[in-house]
Order: sequence, then structure tokens, then C-alpha cells
Amino acid sequence: MLYSAICPAGLAGKKYPTGIMSGIQSSKRRQAFIETFGCQMNERDSEIMGQILHRSGYDLTPELEVADLVVVNTCSIRGKAEQKAMSLLGRLKHAKKKRPGLIIAVTGCVAQQEGAALRERMGHVNLVVGPQNIQRLPELIRQAEVNGSAIAVEQSPVFSLPSFLPELERGGPSHKRFVTIMQGCNNFCTYCVVPYTRGREVSRDPADILAEVHHLVARGVREITLLGQNVNSYGQDRREHDFPDFPGLLRRVAAEPGVLRLRFTTSNPKDLSPDLMRCFGELTNLCPHFHLPVQSGSDSVLRRMNRKYNRREYLEKVAGLRAARADIAITTDIIVGFPGESEADFEATMNLLEEVRYHGAFSFKYSDRPGTVSAGFDDKVEKVVKEARLARLQARQQEITMARHREYQGRVLEVMVEGESRDGAGQWSGRAASNQVVNFSAVEGRLAPGEMVKVIIEEACQNSLRGVLVKE
Ligand code: SAH
Ligand code: SF4
Ligand code: F3S
Repeated sequence: MLYSAICPAGLAGKKYPTGIMSGIQSSKRRQAFIETFGCQMNERDSEIMGQILHRSGYDLTPELEVADLVVVNTCSIRGKAEQKAMSLLGRLKHAKKKRPGLIIAVTGCVAQQEGAALRERMGHVNLVVGPQNIQRLPELIRQAEVNGSAIAVEQSPVFSLPSFLPELERGGPSHKRFVTIMQGCNNFCTYCVVPYTRGREVSRDPADILAEVHHLVARGVREITLLGQNVNSYGQDRREHDFPDFPGLLRRVAAEPGVLRLRFTTSNPKDLSPDLMRCFGELTNLCPHFHLPVQSGSDSVLRRMNRKYNRREYLEKVAGLRAARADIAITTDIIVGFPGESEADFEATMNLLEEVRYHGAFSFKYSDRPGTVSAGFDDKVEKVVKEARLARLQARQQEITMARHREYQGRVLEVMVEGESRDGAGQWSGRAASNQVVNFSAVEGRLAPGEMVKVIIEEACQNSLRGVLVKE
């Protein structure tokens, strides 16, 4: 998927990256299998769990069949995301029958939302652990070994991830990494479960963030993505006079020597400040890509979603970003079929696509989520109508994305190499600063992941750009 690196709710379940698996196999060490659903916050949490588990005697395995411990890190953002985790948990019932010693842990947003009820519903689940309790995993496993189960879903008013421990930081992709800068969300958009599952906004200390970035860069990481559900409100929960706001933090991270590329996700448009816009003109390593979820082009829908901005304000922010950095690629999230969305509301969203001409958009059918305000709205849009609207919107956006891609033809882009592509010898894949996948041929020599090269773009494809390495 073109924008998968910033996909707010990466749709497919992901196994833990093989790069982090220990090469040391000892008979005493046990095997843990982690499956991750949902957003980058969950991906980063899985990485941290992998590190914590490694310290307490587990190696990560990509094979479910040999695992002593299975961690299902769940997402609850839409019904479909939850169903995926549930179906894996259903299958694990058989695995548990065959191997009664298997420990099954459910973490992430479904765990937080359901708590003890999940364990009652699924007797084969041993652990239910909310996102703010993952650092307690080893202790909870021991508890489950003695008592059969453990539940930990308390929410904390302080940043709950372990403060950065360099000795835990091992494995994972070598050239680009996520760094969590805040947890939770205070926005309560009426359709969204996140404020319930991730709790209130808590900003992480800048010194911890910078120490983590520094350590990663020293190990050869060249691209950092700062993570939070609404990074623009970073620091607003902290009273200390010298605590930075988000642009302040960005400037500090960008100044860290060796950070060749800096990205962040996600931002609620209501908090996108002129100072953040200025950062795009100022910081040369801040990538010219902004994921700015709009959700709807209709003011009345935006109001009922509790988004706290209107269409005009949103468009002004888009214009401000483009004024600060002309080559910025703007992507978005859109929900179709929000309760009460009329034909005219939907047309306003279609028309917004024309006005902004996004480089890419993730679009979703509205899905009722337990405990949210909009689940109680009574003017629900019929499934067939939602499907038809989504298909129309996606078809049009595909055309716009393709047209955007054609604008790169003939241009030389700086590309960070990801690796060899599946297309055969001399074919490579990487990413442009504006976040498109760039496939290119480079006949002579080998390229290393994280290397920066120049590529002349010859062809626009639906999900990528294609070009040829430019020799310097
Ligand atoms: N914090 C991010 C959003 C994270 S959720 C932000 O505010 O932009 C990722 C996306 O999932 C949202 O932008 C929204 O488009 C979609 N989404 C969230 N709840 C949904 C629901 N109940 N039904 C359909 N899509 C939803
Ligand atoms: Fe959900 Fe809104 Fe918070 Fe994003 S800003 S996580 S959509 S409540
Ligand atoms: Fe999903 Fe929770 Fe992330 S609901 S999108 S895993 S914050």
C-alpha cells in the first residue's frame, strides 16, 4: 500500500519483523510469537514487548506452532479490525487444546476495552493487558503460570512506557524506526474508541525522546517517525515552563546529528499551528509529507463528529502548509457514511477531494464502536449506501493519486533505499521524502538499506513511482 508507512491503522495483521529475532537458540529459552494489528503505536508497543520478553527469557519466533507464548496485540478502531484479532483468538483455542501449557496474551485496544469480560468469553486466554501495562508483561506471565490468568487494564496518568533502556533496544529494522512521544487522546471524536482505549494525553519527557533518538542514530538509524494519536498537542498536558510544544520538540529532534529524515504521525487539523507550518520551511530533514485526516468535507458532519474545525479552516491549513513548503504531499483519512450523512454531505466530501487533490487517502466505511457517542446516533446510513459511496470515493481518489504521481515524471527525487525489489536483479525499492514508494533500476553495484540515492522518475504507477538511478 502506497502510504503504508504512515497508515494510521495498518490493516493487515503483522508478524514481528524477522530482523529482531535472536540468533542464539538455547534450550532454556522459550519462544514467543507476537501478532500485531492496528496502528504504528501498536507496532511500536509490540517491539517494546519483544524487547521486554527477550530480557525475561523469550526468543521471538515467526512460527505459531513452536511458541510457548502467543501475544495478540489487538486494534479496535473498526469492527473489521476487531474481528481479525477475534478470529485469530478463535483459532488459538485449538492450539491450546493440543498444547495446554501454551500461554495466550491479548494486548492492545480490544484488551483495554474488554478487560476481564474478554477472559470470561474466551477461557483459553490467560492474559488481558492494556497498552499502559505492557511493561508488566513478565510479572503477569508468572502470575498466569501460577493462577491460570491475569488481567491488567489500569490506566495511568503518567507516561507508562519504560523510560528508554538502551540495553533493551535491539533488533528491528536497521534504518528507520518509530519513537513514541505521547500516549492517549483527549479529543473524543464521536466515532472513535481511542480516547477510551488509550486514555488521556500524556507527553513523554523530551530528554527520554532525545536519548532514544540519539541511541538509534548511533546504531545507524537514519529515519525517525515520531508517534502519537495527536502529536500536535504534545506538551499541552505539561506545566513546566521549559517543556517544549510539538514544533519545539521537532526542532530538537531534527537537530540531532545523523537524523537524515524526520516524520511524524498523526495530527488533528484543529491543532496544526502556524509554527508547525514554519517547521516545514525551516527544517531540511523534515520530510515534505503531512498526513492530515479530514474525515469529511461537510461542516454539519464535522460538527457531529466533534472534530472542532470546519471545511474552510481545514483548507486554510492545507494552503498554509503548501505556502511553507511547495512540494509537500498531503494525505488524509476519510470516513464515509457517518450517521446522518446525506447525499449532499457526501458530495461535499467528493468535492473536497477535487479542491485539495490529495496525494493519497485512506477511506473507511463508518463503523459503530462500543461506548462511542455516535454509536447512539439513530440516523445510521445503510450498508449498501456506505459501500457505494466508498467505492465512488476510492475510484476518484485513485485517479487523483495517479495524476499526482504523473507530476513527478521527469523529476529527480532523493530516495532512501529500502532494499532489493522482487522484480529481479538490479531492481531496487525505496521511498521518496514525500513518502511514495519508488522502484528503480541500478544495474551496477549493491545498495544498502538506508542509503540515499537520486532517482529520475520515468513512470507513474498507481501505488508507486518507477525510475532509474542517477549516477553522481
Ligand atoms: N488520531 C488519528 C486517527 C487514528 S484512527 C486522527 O485523529 O487523525 C485512524 C482512522 O480511522 C481515523 O482517522 C478515521 O478515519 C478512522 N476511524 C476511526 N474510527 C472509525 C470508525 N468508528 N469507523 C470508521 N473509521 C474510523
Ligand atoms: Fe480518535 Fe479523534 Fe483522537 Fe484521532 S483525534 S484518535 S480520531 S478521538
Ligand atoms: Fe487501533 Fe488502538 Fe491504534 S484502536 S488504531 S490499535 S490506538
